[in-house]
Amino acid sequence: MSETTPQIDIVPDAATAADYAAIQLIAALHGNERPTLGLATGATMTPLYARLVAAYGKRGVSFRDATSFNLDEYVGVRPDSRGSFHAYMRAHLFDHVDLPPGRAHIPNGMAADIAAEAARYEANIKAAGGIDLQLLGIGANGHIGFNEPGSAFSSRTREIRLDDATRRANAAHFPHAAVPERAITMGIATILEARWIVLLATGAEKADAVACMMEGPLTTDCPASALRLHRNVQVICDAAAAGKLTRAMAGERKRAR
Ligand code: F6R
Repeated sequence: MSETTPQIDIVPDAATAADYAAIQLIAALHGNERPTLGLATGATMTPLYARLVAAYGKRGVSFRDATSFNLDEYVGVRPDSRGSFHAYMRAHLFDHVDLPPGRAHIPNGMAADIAAEAARYEANIKAAGGIDLQLLGIGANGHIGFNEPGSAFSSRTREIRLDDATRRANAAHFPHAAVPERAITMGIATILEARWIVLLATGAEKADAVACMMEGPLTTDCPASALRLHRNVQVICDAAAAGKLTRAMAGERKRAR
């Protein structure tokens, strides 16, 4: 696989970044008869999902024919408990749109056999025909999904130990319990099989990660750098997250509001 430069859209602020990402998601939903979406959780995605819910409310989009696969879930966290990604997705998207519940997939972090659950998840993605649009955030340490630094570019869906920095970043979601130490995540190779990838990054705390993804060496120390091996990646970031880029990007389009 040869290296490419992802398309990057740098917009003034997080609200505009969410607007742009919503446009891409809606395009994917309109552009496919049976769209398959790869979904992410996290603070960055919340304004994006709010825009999708608003568009659905105005009949601007429907999820009726869609299938979705979330990137990850904590291991040992019940789907109905507050910090789970199941709860996040219900609160921010699934409870508000017409995505058929049976077609909204999230890894089961309570499975007795996580390796078997990971294999089942991979098989389900394949059976759905693969992912049309994969939505990604990025960790301050360069993780995508929960592929922490050190994850092989050939990795598939599997159990992973979370970095201490990642656990600290998510502590607010577990006010009454320790942040889980382990998660189940789609692998980097799984993510790279999506036909189209949209990565959303906002805020100055993501500036180092965006710089390593776009300009650093291709290395497992920065899992997001693997995205340069994919031909159809669009990075949408606000000015703060783009603050440490030093080169003029081949695909860069600076956008005003
Ligand atoms: C979540 C996920 C993670 C987040 C990343 C950024 O499903 O896969 O990679 O996208 O940790 O999280 P926020 O947006 O909370 O900074």
